[in-house]
Amino acid sequence: MTADLARRAAELRDQINFHSYRYNVLGSPVISDAEYDKLYHELKTLEAEYPELVTPDSPTQRVGSDLSEDLPKVRHPAPILSLSNAFSIEDLQAWEERNLKLLPADTPLSYTLEPKLDGLSVVITYENGTLVQAATRGDGEQGDDVTANVRTIRNVPLKIPVNPDGPRPPQWLVVRGEVLFHKKDFAALNQKQASEGLPLYVNARNTASGTLKQKDSRITAGRPLTAYLYNIVAAVGYEWDSQWDALNFLRDMGFPIAPDAGFFPALSDIIQQLPTWESRRNQLQYEIDGVVIKINERRIAEELGFAGKDPRGAIAYKFPAEEMTTRLIGVTVNVGRTGKVTPTAQLEPVFLGGVTVVNASLHNYDQIARLDIRQGDTVIVKRSGEVIPYVIGPVVGARDGSEIAILPPETCPFSGDKLVQPEGLVDWYCPNPRCPERVYRSIEFFVSRGAMDIEGMGGQTVRTLIEKGFIHDEADIFTLQRDALLELDGFADKKVDNLLASIDTARQRPLAQLLASLGIDGVGEVVAGALATHFGSIDALMEASVEAVDAIEGIGPILAQSVVDWFADSQHRTVLDKMRQAGVKMQAEARVRAGTRLDGLTFVLTGTLPTLSREQASELIESHGGKISGSVSKKTSFVLMGDSPGSKADKARQLGIPVIGEAELWDMIGENPAESRSNPQPNPTQPSLL
Ligand code: IVH
Repeated sequence: MTADLARRAAELRDQINFHSYRYNVLGSPVISDAEYDKLYHELKTLEAEYPELVTPDSPTQRVGSDLSEDLPKVRHPAPILSLSNAFSIEDLQAWEERNLKLLPADTPLSYTLEPKLDGLSVVITYENGTLVQAATRGDGEQGDDVTANVRTIRNVPLKIPVNPDGPRPPQWLVVRGEVLFHKKDFAALNQKQASEGLPLYVNARNTASGTLKQKDSRITAGRPLTAYLYNIVAAVGYEWDSQWDALNFLRDMGFPIAPDAGFFPALSDIIQQLPTWESRRNQLQYEIDGVVIKINERRIAEELGFAGKDPRGAIAYKFPAEEMTTRLIGVTVNVGRTGKVTPTAQLEPVFLGGVTVVNASLHNYDQIARLDIRQGDTVIVKRSGEVIPYVIGPVVGARDGSEIAILPPETCPFSGDKLVQPEGLVDWYCPNPRCPERVYRSIEFFVSRGAMDIEGMGGQTVRTLIEKGFIHDEADIFTLQRDALLELDGFADKKVDNLLASIDTARQRPLAQLLASLGIDGVGEVVAGALATHFGSIDALMEASVEAVDAIEGIGPILAQSVVDWFADSQHRTVLDKMRQAGVKMQAEARVRAGTRLDGLTFVLTGTLPTLSREQASELIESHGGKISGSVSKKTSFVLMGDSPGSKADKARQLGIPVIGEAELWDMIGENPAESRSNPQPNPTQPSLL
């Protein structure tokens, strides 16, 4: 062992002690939980390898305490423990190997996999089925008495079994679970704060903790906390053999159990599940920071005992950090195609969710003011899944007084126009539709993948074409000349030919796709499809009245007005005329009816299908009489789900709407996909025009 390692251990001890003081005593942490975990894990690993480095004052030698001075104390019937962490599959395998070495040869182990709920632990006691006490974890030996507050949590049963015909409750039962805010409830709580002009809450877990430890339980009752139970701490009158049995027993008694827990016969099955969990994470209604893996056999788990303070029978597998702290060094102002001004944070580079992040969204200036985010602040940044990284809020405790307030600019940095904030909106807008940045963003959107999909024309090419004066609007793309394109840097013959070919292809895009690419407020794929089917041509749309548009199912009066206004605008009409001159298709094709099997059925699409694109699936459904809708409601007949589905699949399950895959769709229409694709024309023997 080198002196370097001893020095590193001392450094880690100091850092961890400092951050634990900031968190537990001052209530103002200056680093994220993930950063704290990382320091702690490093120290633990170091001490495990070199036990001589363990000192009595090492933070690993005590269980953290969250006891509050204001609340009476409750002694727990058994220690309320924490878990050791795994950060990789190798860590998990090493955990199992260590356990197997301590057990008789060939001991079979099965496991439960549960979400690691990101809330705070609560311990609840029932006597003869009645809730008599609830406490926080505290220091693991004793916790704060929060009985009155826990009684206000609506999904915590005050009496078990909840179903009077259910099994008899044990004489005495102590259960452990997690108290948290569902994501939507936390958002609603913040919306309420905002509407009352109050500061926003930054962190759901800290807010849940503060809420649970209120001295006045009326405050707790006013905030929508939720609880999920996951362990039996002690019981008289009930015995259980496995964690899975315990979870089922808790469910039978009427306790809320995290719906996503599962049983797996081997660790390898669990390891297979992990990537799915990481991607599902964003769709769950609660925040998780990992999963908890528990040895299912209770006797074996108890026999294994402890490693330090942590039970060997369970482990927390932590996902890569989604939140980190870093410094906000500046703010850039972006103007979108609608004129909306969005401030973007420039950050000191920070490694987050697997990538280095240097920019993050600050949402809008109202939000900046409400969260009191200042330039120079240490801020918490979050990046989860596909979501653009955003600034959650400032770390107020890390300020040194040099931070500067962030205010909206008075004028558009691109056009110089005075910015406006429409009444009732939080965003500021550049009001000038000819603002060069707005024009650029509109064209960039028009050519993009989800829109007219002009391959080979990225944002940079659009910028150069504008700068050189070759294009001024979307229509000019269709009259671009070969010689002009050859002038562009890096555009040789072949590249120019390819680009011209993709522009030619785009000329023939279906009317619905053209409509969805024009950037009309509120007109996405689904509305554009409905408009194209109903009106059949741009000409007809130009003549349409608000009443005629409003009459289409799924389009309300506000959207109808916005569509009619858009087509009445002379500038827009000029662009459309130019497109027509340039040979862009402006009429829907008479659609051939392929069948009637889906008549009266409404479908919602989510995820990537194995063989059909979204457009193809929509066309197929519509050609068989079905309708496409953008969101799941009670009126939805089926959700057609592919890989990496969004929240629509969850919503469907909640509403009990059947979720089908592509194969089932083919079955429903009675077609064979292979035949259909080799002969894309629907059955020619019975054509009927829609
Ligand atoms: S079991 C010995 N199960 O994570 C049993 N804990 O890092 C230890 N947590 O303090 C707890 N979800 O607050 C368990 N399904 C779950 C959990 C869970 C969240 C929390 C709990 C614990 C911490 C450990």
